[in-house]
Amino acid sequence: MSRVLTGIQSSGKPHLGNLLGAILPAIELADAQAEPAFLFIADLHALTTIRDPAVLRENTYAVAATWLAAGLNPKRHVFFRQSDVPEVCELAWYLGCLTPYPMLANAHSFKEKSANLAEVSAGLFTYPVLMAADILLYQTELVPVGKDQKQHLEITRDIAGAFNRIYGELFTLPEPIFREEVMVLPGIDGRKMSKSYGNTLDPLGDLNELYKRVKRIVTDSTPIDQPKNPDTCTVFKLYSVVAPPAAVEEMRQRYLAGGYGYGQAKEALYEALRERFAPQREAYQQWISDKEALEAILRGGAERARSEAQKTLQKVREALGLRSAVASGFRV
Ligand code: AMP
Ligand code: TRP
Repeated sequence: MSRVLTGIQSSGKPHLGNLLGAILPAIELADAQAEPAFLFIADLHALTTIRDPAVLRENTYAVAATWLAAGLNPKRHVFFRQSDVPEVCELAWYLGCLTPYPMLANAHSFKEKSANLAEVSAGLFTYPVLMAADILLYQTELVPVGKDQKQHLEITRDIAGAFNRIYGELFTLPEPIFREEVMVLPGIDGRKMSKSYGNTLDPLGDLNELYKRVKRIVTDSTPIDQPKNPDTCTVFKLYSVVAPPAAVEEMRQRYLAGGYGYGQAKEALYEALRERFAPQREAYQQWISDKEALEAILRGGAERARSEAQKTLQKVREALGLRSAVASGFRV
């Protein structure tokens, strides 16, 4: 029985890799706990890269609709938008005052961009502090994330440890749960599927578009009649994570036997995507066309999150010496 929390930046509509590699596994982990999980859309973090308000709003809805369509139960779990819980910014300030400069200067997220410091905002520099606040505000125990977030979790634990040493054991130290990265899905050009490469497949979007993009998957030029290597083929790799095992084995045999073309494999992949995600596609369309319903869910989640957040913050303010026990109503 553990409290699970994870955040998803609203940097774009999630793609097949995000769905299979992050969203579905996080929902599975959340559902396996007796306690509600805290799942949120990190729109404050997205502000470090997105400057267009319409784009930010649209991305936030697209991410929310995807999680709900993927099966997140908002009655059981606390599903909210980061910016609806302003308490997180207050905690981030307190934590920032305990965070040594070199810890942030060594963070990959900053270092990658540090060649051109004029383009680094204070928000990007302190990104890990806000992330620590996200996690510590709810006394989180388990944080499912990709390996790329390892350092951010270490920073969170370091900050929490420093706080606890100075002010008393107030914060739970969170454990990261790294997702199995056995399956880095290739995109339609064969490189890692990524929004920044423009090579993604969106299984919850328009089917004509999906079909066109599947047809554009890059393959080698082995002629139809020749045997083909399934293990080096992008079409087969994608098929193997969306189709049922028996169908995958059948396709593998067809590749090895020869007389089976990439065009046929692409048709099969499209069908598998269409079928596997049919219920989610329909649910996505419903959610995305009902912003009122999305807002109502996010508001409900924010209320639950805030009541939890306020409990932590009251203890934190008291520990820091900002308010007296009497004034805050907090009993020591
Ligand atoms: P990103 O927004 O690209 O950082 O992706 C968020 C999470 O989605 C990552 O931490 C991964 O767990 C997952 N993910 C992204 N791209 C892929 C991919 N091509 N294959 C598998 N998982 C992915
Ligand atoms: N930085 C994370 C990412 O880019 C998103 C995130 C923000 C997050 N706050 C978090 C993840 C808290 C886990 C916990 O993927």
